Amino acid sequence: MSSYSFMQKTRSFMRFNRLRDLVSDSMAIDMGSASTIIAVRGRGIVVDEPSVVAVNKITGEVVAIGREAQEMLGREARDVALIAPLVDGVVADFERTQQMLDYFVRKARSGFSQFSRRAIMSVLSGVTQVEQRALLAAAEHAHIGRVYMVEEGLAAAIGAGIRVDDPHAAAVVDIGASTTNVAVVARGTIIQSHAERIGSFDIDMAIIDRLRRYRGLIIGEPTAERLKIELGSAIEPKDPERRLNVRGRDVQTGRPGAIDVTASEIYIVTQAIVRKIADEVRTSLAELQPEVAADIYDRGIILTGGGALLEGMAQYLQKETQLVTRIADEPRYAIVRGLAQLFDEPLLLRRVTRNEPFPLLGAQPSPMES
Ligand SMILES: Nc1ncnc2c1ncn2[C@@H]1O[C@H](COP(=O)(O)OP(=O)(O)OP(=O)(O)O)[C@@H](O)[C@H]1O
Ligand SMILES: [Mg+2]
Repeated sequence: MSSYSFMQKTRSFMRFNRLRDLVSDSMAIDMGSASTIIAVRGRGIVVDEPSVVAVNKITGEVVAIGREAQEMLGREARDVALIAPLVDGVVADFERTQQMLDYFVRKARSGFSQFSRRAIMSVLSGVTQVEQRALLAAAEHAHIGRVYMVEEGLAAAIGAGIRVDDPHAAAVVDIGASTTNVAVVARGTIIQSHAERIGSFDIDMAIIDRLRRYRGLIIGEPTAERLKIELGSAIEPKDPERRLNVRGRDVQTGRPGAIDVTASEIYIVTQAIVRKIADEVRTSLAELQPEVAADIYDRGIILTGGGALLEGMAQYLQKETQLVTRIADEPRYAIVRGLAQLFDEPLLLRRVTRNEPFPLLGAQPSPMES
């Protein structure tokens, strides 16, 4: 082959790739146990929906996914079951995870693109090979060409504004619905990361339990979440008598009922959960190398994830850890923003992916990338 025709071939291949860039989307995907968030390069956040699937119990057929399914929660028809296919941040129901991701990725695609050339997904530190493969297979089902897996802690740190060339260590605590991940990063790498199965959803569960046992009323999950968001606080509530009237089913009579719930009652159960979260943060940040500990002493902790939005959370953790604590901007989007930023740093992306960037669907690497 003459070098001339080789050049021509390379050029036309590159033109093809550029064309493919135009008709395909690069996606950043944070699939959490409570919500799935997708950002597309150049278009920002395009999907932010609950990670739930509504299924017909008799036929097994999917009735609705995401927000549409969530709206049925607590009021689903007799033959409809709501499934959260991710539990504690990992795939628990493979088939439903596949269907859900496929649906969200379709939604995220711009009108004319048929497939997504690449996606960066976050994975919890400590997931097993089996769990990671399940995610990869789900991505393949959603017609994504290549999947890069990046640890959640690093993505959260980048998304919270920690520069990847920053030599000093930083601590990022992501409080999700069902997991709390404490990561220490420096120079774009994870020094240490630990995830525990406790999160904001545990507060909802504790509220349901409390009202059933002490007030004789069974409330649904959406009501419990509303009580947490509107009355809940990690520190002594400013106005303990502030109240909300909630309805549910009376334990004794089985009939519909209503009670007033005060902020101080919600505080009783919230306290127990946030204390466990603080314990985890404290133990994870103990026994660090002296230089790392010194950096974190200077810089403090950055909070990400929806759990960071609980009233008083930063203040509480600051008191418990004796470290300055701040909340990242839009903490629920920190991970996906961090992932999306990696598209602009190809070298770093290669370094930080947990997997060999899997060429799925036989997609070819472009000369620009290799
Ligand atoms: N304003 C708020 N106040 C208190 N809690 C909130 C608020 N907004 C969201 N949350 C809680 O944050 C949680 C969702 O956070 P996030 O979206 O980070 O979870 P996730 O990433 O899906 O879960 P995980 O990371 O554990 O898999 C929910 O439990 C929700 O109730
Ligand atoms: Mg999360």
